[in-house]
Amino acid sequence: MPKTSRWEFAYASNPPWDTGKPLRELVELVEKGLIKPCRSIDLGCGRGHVVSYLLSKGFDAWGIDISVLAIRQAIKISKSKGFATNFINADGLSHIPEEKFSLATDIGFYHALPEKERKHLAKHAYGQYLRRSGTLLLWCMSDEEPDYGGPHPIPKDELLSFFSKGWEIMGIQKTHLGKPGLKGLFMHAKLKCARAPNEILVPAFAS
Ligand SMILES: C[S@@+](CC[C@H](N)C(=O)[O-])C[C@H]1O[C@@H](n2cnc3c(N)ncnc32)[C@H](O)[C@@H]1O
Repeated sequence: MPKTSRWEFAYASNPPWDTGKPLRELVELVEKGLIKPCRSIDLGCGRGHVVSYLLSKGFDAWGIDISVLAIRQAIKISKSKGFATNFINADGLSHIPEEKFSLATDIGFYHALPEKERKHLAKHAYGQYLRRSGTLLLWCMSDEEPDYGGPHPIPKDELLSFFSKGWEIMGIQKTHLGKPGLKGLFMHAKLKCARAPNEILVPAFAS
């Protein structure tokens, strides 16, 4: 099955993860002033609810998603609210932005990928998006919730291991990913050193 088919299929109807709004926990961080307006990107942005919300709060917010349908819907939603349509339809694992970001958010993108690709994200790809000391806020399902119906519940030890080099992990907390009762993980990490724009990403997903 081509890499995108599963996602196109999901966005042709109502994907179970799409709540129609930005993640409550992210909204709380913004409302409390813990995240200030900056140039941001939401990886695996889906229908772009986080991007629209951050735009409404004065961020230079962008989103990237591999699904054509998701990006089409994100543009439509953002336009209908009168916001910019800062959406990129590309593979988030290999895309290299022209200008880097201060903040990257990931809500359910990391845990949607197989282990090799998650490792690649942690060791290479996230770093292509972020400036030095840029912040990554990552929400994923925890392996304490093995039967949640999604792809890859993540052990905390995996985050500690994959992000052990090049990152400063500021904290990993338990979270409910917007749905009380669900067991997820929320990691706040900072990139120690920005990657050069033309740094080669291959060998792809080498372990
Ligand atoms: C579980 S969904 C979460 C979507 C969104 N963050 C949300 O909370 O509604 C995972 C998203 O990652 C996107 N995705 C999967 N593989 C991708 C890739 N290689 N590059 C960019 N986006 C990808 C999917 O199309 C989907 O929108």
